[in-house]
Amino acid sequence: METPRRVEHQMTDKGYVPVYTTAVVEQPWAQYSAEDHQTWATLFKRQQEILQDRACPEFLENQAAMGMNESQIPKFDDLNVHLKKATGWKLIAVEGLLPELDFFMHLKNREFPVTWWIRRPDQIDYIAEPDLFHDLFGHVPLLMNPIFADYMQAYGAGGVRASTFGNEPLSNLTRLYWYTVEFGLINTPKGLRIYGAGILSSKGESIHCLESNAPNRIGFDLSRVMRTRYRIDTYQKTYFVIDSFEQLFRATVDPDFGPIYYHLKGAESVPAGTVLDTDTVFNRGTGEGWLTDGDV
Ligand code: PHE
Ligand code: FE
Repeated sequence: METPRRVEHQMTDKGYVPVYTTAVVEQPWAQYSAEDHQTWATLFKRQQEILQDRACPEFLENQAAMGMNESQIPKFDDLNVHLKKATGWKLIAVEGLLPELDFFMHLKNREFPVTWWIRRPDQIDYIAEPDLFHDLFGHVPLLMNPIFADYMQAYGAGGVRASTFGNEPLSNLTRLYWYTVEFGLINTPKGLRIYGAGILSSKGESIHCLESNAPNRIGFDLSRVMRTRYRIDTYQKTYFVIDSFEQLFRATVDPDFGPIYYHLKGAESVPAGTVLDTDTVFNRGTGEGWLTDGDV
């Protein structure tokens, strides 16, 4: 189903880039085809299996608790009953990526924008833009966790605030989102586990991030993360490991980022694959297969 998209431009690290902006819609659930439901089922089953001993327990438990399963594409209204009770979050259906400030505002209101359409069968293994599977399967289960739920809201509020400070604070904050919400790892008594949605929704990276010797796995440090460039077209060269959601919360929600942004102003960014002397290293990556350019 084709829906017209409106193109706007947004300032990023790389200058103005086009953003497909779209309004909030009702999830057109009745319009999903049998093929759409099948795509969901295929992806759901495959990731569930891979993630059993790779995702953090909070993700797996909450995904089950909110009734997400392979039988059909979930109805946002059904998931919202569980979310409302657990943490007060609410899913809203969107056509695709929102302008940054709209996205921050929704998070600040405890509304999580979810792309309502699902990828085509020929895009099962990779799609560049976020679709229903990434947004819903990857991001939504942890919104049931009270600490993570508060972190996400605080991030939205922090984003609204950072956008009044200019581009450098915004890029510091985007890196934090990237290395936590999208590509974060967490240390547990049973070993490292995944909590980042960009990994959770990817078959290849779910295995790569934990089992490969190529990437760095480094202890989370706020200002270090805020300086670190990242990859948008390959697996990450570096993953940052938190000890707990409490640690992440204390390191980000408690402090006023104003002085931190000020301190980081003009600081040189760290390439995606670099290990610093000050890092707590879980794994020093071999760098195998890395492209030498293309860090964002
Ligand atoms: N504490 C941050 C600020 O003062 C807000 C924030 C919280 C940012 C959580 C990211 C994550 O701006
Ligand atoms: Fe995402």
